[in-house]
Amino acid sequence: MTSRAGSVPLFDGVDIAALASRVGTPTYAYSASTIRARIDELLSALTGLNALVCYAAKANSNVAVLQLMAEHELGADIVSAGELWRCLQAGIRPGRIVFSGVGKTAEEMREALAAGIGRFNLESRDELETLQAVAASMNTVARAAVRINPDVDARTHAKISTGRAENKFGVGLDEARDWFDHAAGFPNVRLDGLHAHIGSQLLELAPIRQALQRVAAFWHELRDAGHAIASIDVGGGLGVRYREGERPIAAVGYVAAIREALAGFDGRLVLEPGRWLVAEAGVLLTRVIRIKPGANHPFLVLDAAMNDLLRPSLYEAWHDIEPVDAQPRPLETYDVVGPVCETGDTFARARTLPRCNAGDLLMIHTTGAYGASMASTYNSRPLAAEVLLDSGRYAEVRRRQTWQEMIAGEQAARHWHTT
Ligand code: LLP
Repeated sequence: MTSRAGSVPLFDGVDIAALASRVGTPTYAYSASTIRARIDELLSALTGLNALVCYAAKANSNVAVLQLMAEHELGADIVSAGELWRCLQAGIRPGRIVFSGVGKTAEEMREALAAGIGRFNLESRDELETLQAVAASMNTVARAAVRINPDVDARTHAKISTGRAENKFGVGLDEARDWFDHAAGFPNVRLDGLHAHIGSQLLELAPIRQALQRVAAFWHELRDAGHAIASIDVGGGLGVRYREGERPIAAVGYVAAIREALAGFDGRLVLEPGRWLVAEAGVLLTRVIRIKPGANHPFLVLDAAMNDLLRPSLYEAWHDIEPVDAQPRPLETYDVVGPVCETGDTFARARTLPRCNAGDLLMIHTTGAYGASMASTYNSRPLAAEVLLDSGRYAEVRRRQTWQEMIAGEQAARHWHTT
């Protein structure tokens, strides 16, 4: 979605240099047109299937982004009562919300039931028992799926792999079988769904197929044992292109694998993509504060830091970095860092870029997912602004946090209490 009109750099039709001058840096900019195109691509790949796309809100939970999902009648995959609240604020229909995660509290379950969410993806027996107690106390019946751990190596970064037996997610097939066999003991939980999610940033179809086959085999087994399965949730995880040479799986190929593995399933399919819908729609705009000589390479010190974009520090993730102005310049190799007082506050090591000067505007690409949503105010750096762009227009969808907002709720210890 980045292009140029002569020397003017455009992102979704908006002059990004002018935008950065108006709203300052660091700022996340998201292209609404790109997000819509992704939604359309996925929905058209799903044509003919009884499928519900539940956007994984954790990828980018800005209310304006959630609103785009709501406008396209998508649901949401949530992992906390906070995400539930955001999604409802954005107009996502509660019946289209699924609730995943290993640590749902009884209170969160109560809120979700009161809101009328579609389904709980349960990850432990304790959760099943808690949901039974909560639903009984509210005199209602909760719909639930068991999240199975298919024990598949998703071949992605260890910190975002979730489908191995040793990971904290889901339950083994023996445990899941036991839940169905004893479903009568949980009268306030209608257990009629299966769920699996093996990891994030998946770039290969083979592990996805393997997981789907395990889910399908289990569904066949349950069906033959007389258990009605109304919903199969295949999770999220579809990867995107962070650097040249990476070849993400196309939506049609992904959906073809689902069609093939779950052929004959006549219930509802649920998909929970997060990153794939939003990552490539986002850039982080940042300026060079200064260039500092270094032992190996000069340090390019940016005004964005690990508190704004954690992925490089946490996963050693690669993000393309590009100067906004297109003037041809000689190349230089830099260590690209932020101002936070940690060596890990490094966006890239030994990265070759057009030579930069203090004040230059840069774009850090593919930051629409797990960028702003993982940000913090570490080092007392206020949260960055977020801007939604749409065919030549922009709207500030999160204004830059003020210092007052940053310390809101903090106070001097004046009122002391004893317990
Ligand atoms: N469903 C479940 C149950 C999940 O745990 C996740 C992601 C998703 C769906 C969405 O996955 P996606 O389609 O976005 O890959 N912070 C990491 C990614 C963590 C993903 C956690 N779970 C990163 O920046 O790479």
